[in-house]
Amino acid sequence: MESMEIRPIIRMGNPILRLKANAVEPEHAESLTTIIPDMIATMRDAGGVGLAAPQIGVSLRLMVFEVPVSRATNLDGDKPCDIQVLINPNFNPATSDKELGWEGCLSIPGLRGEVPRYKEITYTGFNGEGTPIETFASGFHARVVQHEMDHLDGILYPDRMIDLTRFGYVEEFTKMQEQSRSPDGDIKNGGANG
Ligand code: NI
Repeated sequence: MESMEIRPIIRMGNPILRLKANAVEPEHAESLTTIIPDMIATMRDAGGVGLAAPQIGVSLRLMVFEVPVSRATNLDGDKPCDIQVLINPNFNPATSDKELGWEGCLSIPGLRGEVPRYKEITYTGFNGEGTPIETFASGFHARVVQHEMDHLDGILYPDRMIDLTRFGYVEEFTKMQEQSRSPDGDIKNGGANG
């Protein structure tokens, strides 16, 4: 059993999060055998559902994510899935339609914002075994991949927001929801948390 190390997650303001990350090359293969398990352990420890390598200070085009049962819409392309490793990813929108959804980010703790994302995408890349993959994704699955892809290009979700009145502390939003008893979107659990 390989040892897994929980690594510190860097936060917004750290310039590493604003870099365009480097492509993973064959010379990185050995270091990935520790980086990938560490990313999974770090994501799990932080209670997230996605993590990009730059968030642990590693500027490589690599992400891990999952689609939990609680988030999956079960539509085509949005079934629950266990942790996926995606190396050198790219995506193309499969529709021009975007939808708003609440996101959080482990590098912006405590905050949530409503972010437009393509409803459907097709993404490519390599899995942890180096096998090429091509996957259609919709809903939450498409959202988490777009969120993590942005991390590889130095983009954070507030950059994508169109209405900053829909940006704030999750604790405050949650209080308001409880008072009004009219939840519009599941803010507390709705974040991509990647
Ligand atoms: Ni994030």
